[in-house]
Amino acid sequence: MSNIDKIKAELEQFGIDSLENLEQFRLKFLTKKSELQELLSEIKNVAPEERKNFGQQVNELKQKAQQMYEEFKTKMEFQAVKANNIIDATRPSTAISTGSMHPISIMMNEVCEIFEKIGFSTVSGPDVEDDWHVFTALNFPEEHPARDMQDTFFVELHPDILLRTHTSSLQVRTMEKQQPPIRVICPGRVFRNEAITSRAHCIFHQVEGLYIAENVSFAEMKQTLLYFARQMFGEETKIRLRPSYFPFTEPSAEMDISCNICGGKGCALCKHTGWVEILGCGMVDPNVLENCGIDSTKYSGFAFGLGIERMTMLKYRTNDIRLYFENDVRFLQQFKAAGDL
Ligand code: PHE
Repeated sequence: MSNIDKIKAELEQFGIDSLENLEQFRLKFLTKKSELQELLSEIKNVAPEERKNFGQQVNELKQKAQQMYEEFKTKMEFQAVKANNIIDATRPSTAISTGSMHPISIMMNEVCEIFEKIGFSTVSGPDVEDDWHVFTALNFPEEHPARDMQDTFFVELHPDILLRTHTSSLQVRTMEKQQPPIRVICPGRVFRNEAITSRAHCIFHQVEGLYIAENVSFAEMKQTLLYFARQMFGEETKIRLRPSYFPFTEPSAEMDISCNICGGKGCALCKHTGWVEILGCGMVDPNVLENCGIDSTKYSGFAFGLGIERMTMLKYRTNDIRLYFENDVRFLQQFKAAGDL
């Protein structure tokens, strides 16, 4: 027992400060012939009732010595690497977690790319707008409900300044600056004073398109939108147009695509109709062209606008719009592969 105490004290006092020292430590405590190991062979000389205690203490010492050895070894190696400036380039690195594109950005880019392929160019503009660009130039009557405080966020103290409720304001901005032919696609964030639910949010994203030239027909609009629907949702996708109303287009329509979940047979998503609405569209009203300085006797065109959150929900089959604003990493990570740059 006194030998154990002696070795224990030696172990505690042993300072290791070099690789030679480290080797001495190994010889003294860890090799078969070391004092510590030899203690074990003493066990036969220990009284039987003491043997258990003796064995336990020797083992503890051995473990401690082993642990000290490993720690010092790592420290010495690290110091050697530092001193010699050695970097082991073959060592596996720790993974760095990188961010990824947000699903809404992925979808906005995808929509823009589909239209860029057929000659549209992408433009952007301010989120904070004035009444002219969002409503008046777009032929909204004075008493139109969208102008109401209920739907639009106005800037306090200045009733003319508001958060745009649609990206149609970019149609106006483009036509004011440029004469036809015009072929633009306008992605952006929009704001509406609505209660937040699983299907609606007060902030969302739209992509709007505008095509103005001579003799543009409704048939061209239909074919352009069919091309888009097939690129986005697959070649077998069908479209249908239903008559609708927007102040800035005449005639106006809403477009449905055949439900991409049930393939048109009817399911919960399409409320058993086989169709889901994805966008609004129409031929630009001549009043709008004139408001923006374009000769409506010479030019005509079409416009369309779609909600990105809705498209993303359809494409990725998520059922709650709020997921796109909460930014829970567990949700966002699922879009990593598609959005990685
Ligand atoms: N601006 C409309 C909306 O926000 C969509 C639209 C755009 C409709 C262009 C027709 C033409 O709902």
